[in-house]
Amino acid sequence: MFSGLGALGVAAALAGCAGSDDDGSSGPAVAAGAELALKSEVPVGGGIVLTDERIVITQPTEGDFQAFTAVCTHQGLLVTSVEDGTIHCANHGSSYDATSGDVTGGPASGPLASVEITMDGDRILAA
Ligand code: FES
Repeated sequence: MFSGLGALGVAAALAGCAGSDDDGSSGPAVAAGAELALKSEVPVGGGIVLTDERIVITQPTEGDFQAFTAVCTHQGLLVTSVEDGTIHCANHGSSYDATSGDVTGGPASGPLASVEITMDGDRILAA
């Protein structure tokens, strides 16, 4: 099953290995092709924070999924929630745009880095 997608997944995985060969000690900790969530788990206008994988997945508008590192650029703690198009870090009050990852409120000074994702039916996978 999924033979066509499987081949694409392998290609993506190989490309991912060549491009980012870190151990994920501070950024996202997930292998390419790993299932992150179901689309239905990500609320429209909001999002979910995957604490184990250190990834935040948002759905700013219906059917538009974005993913970012969940590691806040302020002091490296994990962001805590996504509401009304904003990613919040309740640790010290920073906020980020859920579409771009850009800072919308300090003390964080830098944006959340994007994380590549792919869709497989209702599943959201790491790319
Ligand atoms: S670690 Fe996120 S606001 Fe300080």
